[in-house]
Amino acid sequence: MDGKLQYITFYNGQKMPIVGLGTWQAKVGEVGKAVDAALAAGYRHIDTAFSYRNEKEIGEVLKKWFDSGKLKREDIFIVTKLPMMGMRQSSVEKYLKKSLADLQLDYVDLYLVHNPVGMQDVDDGTFPPKGKDGNVLLDLNTDHVSIWKGMEAQVDAGRARSIGLSNFTARQIKRVWQSARIKPANLQVEMNAYFQQRELRAFCRALDITVCAWGPLGTPGIYTFVERQGGDVNNLPRYDLLGDEVVKRIAQKHGKTTAHVLLRFLMQLEVVVIPKSSNPARVKENFKVFDFELSAEDMEALEALDKGRKGRLGTGNLLPGIDKHPEFPWYERY
Ligand SMILES: NC(=O)c1ccc[n+]([C@@H]2O[C@H](COP(=O)([O-])OP(=O)(O)OC[C@H]3O[C@@H](n4cnc5c(N)ncnc54)[C@H](OP(=O)(O)O)[C@@H]3O)[C@@H](O)[C@H]2O)c1
Repeated sequence: MDGKLQYITFYNGQKMPIVGLGTWQAKVGEVGKAVDAALAAGYRHIDTAFSYRNEKEIGEVLKKWFDSGKLKREDIFIVTKLPMMGMRQSSVEKYLKKSLADLQLDYVDLYLVHNPVGMQDVDDGTFPPKGKDGNVLLDLNTDHVSIWKGMEAQVDAGRARSIGLSNFTARQIKRVWQSARIKPANLQVEMNAYFQQRELRAFCRALDITVCAWGPLGTPGIYTFVERQGGDVNNLPRYDLLGDEVVKRIAQKHGKTTAHVLLRFLMQLEVVVIPKSSNPARVKENFKVFDFELSAEDMEALEALDKGRKGRLGTGNLLPGIDKHPEFPWYERY
């Protein structure tokens, strides 16, 4: 990471901008405006996924920026993810090619396995595939080692510069890492001041795997998602991280927003952050995290907010029936 906290560097030398724009639940018709506002504000990293169903509109904005000459392909870091329906070695190429076609790109900078759970591939990409009972249709034969070979083939073919994992536990990461010819460069997991994942971060550091936090602002949109998927929202704790009194006090002291403090906290732990907003004014505002620094005392106060595993919001409630898969990650300690 350089002095201005702008990048973290992978074991292979590739640099990932430490702040990116998240696009989960950024709707078609809105996501393009958010990406446009992000590029204008100076973001050079966009996080998306096949399952977000918004890659086409993101691709249109990227093309507009490339065509205008204001942006070169090598200036921007694009992350997308292998969906749970593509959790087979033979499906990796198909899904990455679909994402590349929609994004109008020849390669992505980082391709992640979205989740350790595998689902059935009905209808060539319906997400989430669901049975009549409303539960997701699982594929119980998921083998991460064989899928990883499919991921490595994408690097060999030039379709991904680096590859990584998302929502994997230490046990699952270790298994992939041990078998890998091309090591995972990055792990994307839920992480914020209420759910700091200290053990998992230390584990990744030891393997030279960088970490990116999803839900860095406390993922306030998760409740709507769970409700829409028919999950039980009442079993989820109701947190308001952006309204936390300690975070507010630190924000006031620095003349910044609580979102700035939450992002800066993770950045100073060398964690990449990808705050999502579909609101162009917020997108612009959230990026103003390079002009202040949290003191050791601020960091200590924020570290004390950790709720451990109780801080996790991404749970078995996220998609009905997902926790019946043998590789379901979120009952393990880390
Ligand atoms: N790998 C995975 O499985 C996984 C899972 C979840 C997320 N992700 C990635 O991580 C990104 C971030 O996570 P997330 O979207 O769950 O949560 P987040 O970034 O913590 O929070 C986003 C939510 O906060 C609101 N928001 C943004 N800036 C705000 C501000 N300054 N003040 C008040 N509210 C604000 C947004 O609403 P508005 O849009 O209305 O501004 C949105 O509802 C995702 O978008 C996605 O790219 C990955």
